[in-house]
Amino acid sequence: MSSQDPWWSQAVIYQIYPRSFFDSNGDGEGDLAGIALKIEYLKSLGIDAIWLSPFYKSPNKDGGYDVSDPRMVDPRFGSLADFGRLVDLCHENSLRVIVDLVPNHFSSEHRWFQEAIAAEAGSPARQRFHFRDPNSDGSPPNNWISLFGGSTWSKAPDGQFYLHLFDQSQPDLNWENPEVAADFEETLRFWLDRGVDGFRIDVAHGLVKEEIEKDHYAPELLSDALRLDIEMEPARRSEILATVPFFNRPGVHEIYRTWRRIFDSYDRDVVSVAEIWVHPPEEAALYVRPDELNQVFNFDLLTTPFEADALFESISGAFSILEPVGALPTWALSNHDSPRVASRLGVSQSQALAIFLLALPGSFYLYNGQELSLPDGDVLDSDRQDPVYFRTQGLQKGRDGARVPLPWSADEVNCGFSTARPWLPIAESWRELSVEAQEKDSASSLHLFRRALSIRQALVDSGSNIAWIESQSAEILAFTRGDFLVLLNTSREDQDFASDGSIYMASNEMTSADGSTIYLPPLSSCWVTRAK
Ligand code: GLC
Ligand code: CA
Repeated sequence: MSSQDPWWSQAVIYQIYPRSFFDSNGDGEGDLAGIALKIEYLKSLGIDAIWLSPFYKSPNKDGGYDVSDPRMVDPRFGSLADFGRLVDLCHENSLRVIVDLVPNHFSSEHRWFQEAIAAEAGSPARQRFHFRDPNSDGSPPNNWISLFGGSTWSKAPDGQFYLHLFDQSQPDLNWENPEVAADFEETLRFWLDRGVDGFRIDVAHGLVKEEIEKDHYAPELLSDALRLDIEMEPARRSEILATVPFFNRPGVHEIYRTWRRIFDSYDRDVVSVAEIWVHPPEEAALYVRPDELNQVFNFDLLTTPFEADALFESISGAFSILEPVGALPTWALSNHDSPRVASRLGVSQSQALAIFLLALPGSFYLYNGQELSLPDGDVLDSDRQDPVYFRTQGLQKGRDGARVPLPWSADEVNCGFSTARPWLPIAESWRELSVEAQEKDSASSLHLFRRALSIRQALVDSGSNIAWIESQSAEILAFTRGDFLVLLNTSREDQDFASDGSIYMASNEMTSADGSTIYLPPLSSCWVTRAK
């Protein structure tokens, strides 16, 4: 990395789901003070920054992505003072802090929505959201389908409908109303003034809606649209999302230009990373033009199979999509919205792929627990909390499996996460996956990630150019970056690769080199330093 590059351009950013990280006060839910208590652990990982999923005041109908006061900490997570202490502690330990911003919707318990419900049709209070009269037959204003299943419209007590792309408890804001824009600018400044180093912007492609008065889906598409979620076959999902008049409208870019001017008015490098799902994928580049945001999440790898061809397409595609604007990709294999990668691909595969991606130019988002190679938790239907489960009448199980709290201890009650019953129970079998157990085992996933992160800077220092190399096996991916050669064996067989280099880092301890050949175990990856 050249010294002019901003800190985030090749950073490793650790996503913390606060409710599931560590409980400091014995109520079964993680909190901000709990994160602070684990500062040594965070520091030991070798990450550059943490990203905190929402901890704002919220009735918690959608894991805090239903915000009822964006400038207040929810009591379940602590107080503003706890937040201040956590930011200071992180900064003292050279960790930056990114927070989530949820601009597409508020919670229905936000003061504005309460006012809107109490006000009349057409009133200024209602114009902060999208309220419409029913059609003459009483049906909702259009046939848009919520991302969580069901209609995007719910009825207010007086019979008008309001729009919600997600749960009925998450009314969408009307971004044509200057009051909405002004409120978010205040929120940005509020957290920037409290020292945050950046924002992850939720549903960044969704703020502007068009053609609200029209039906969108042809009747034959409706049944598919009802299943519109990450579990759907990606090509089909993209096809359905290609035209929805509530995503990726040109008007969103003006909002980000305004925000960028706010970020730039601070005397530090503020990062902004957008959660976007756009079609065609090339349009992602529009969000990271020089006067807009800094990064876009690249979700392609969350659904790519562990096959060399498919991975090559995804990875090289991520570079070429952003090339026109000179931005680097972001890499992520897990987050709070998708199945954990160790469950989706298998543990060895997930580790091999992570080590491979960590060698690529760009920044890497690590979801808490991924460093332990945690699988999805088994969640009883009676414990489920995700609105996706309820809105699809159980057709989709939802995202709770990826949100089960972290196991810290091998022998303490509730794996050391909390003295009380965790909000989602932790399986007994997770004791052996706990931080404590993995600390003791030098071959553990935790040590693997730590090792990789502690020496990754050498790759970053070798520049942002990579060259793909043809390999003799179709199941090996190989590229060079500076003096490094990076290999991924996607096959279930041992593979040889001709190289005079030596092993610098490997996902599997059995990887070896003899001066002319690299020996790759099945489902493994490695970083090789080439002889000069
Ligand atoms: C984003 C969040 C997800 C949330 C949704 C609605 O996709 O990552 O967790 O449910 O937005 O806010
Ligand atoms: Ca707690």
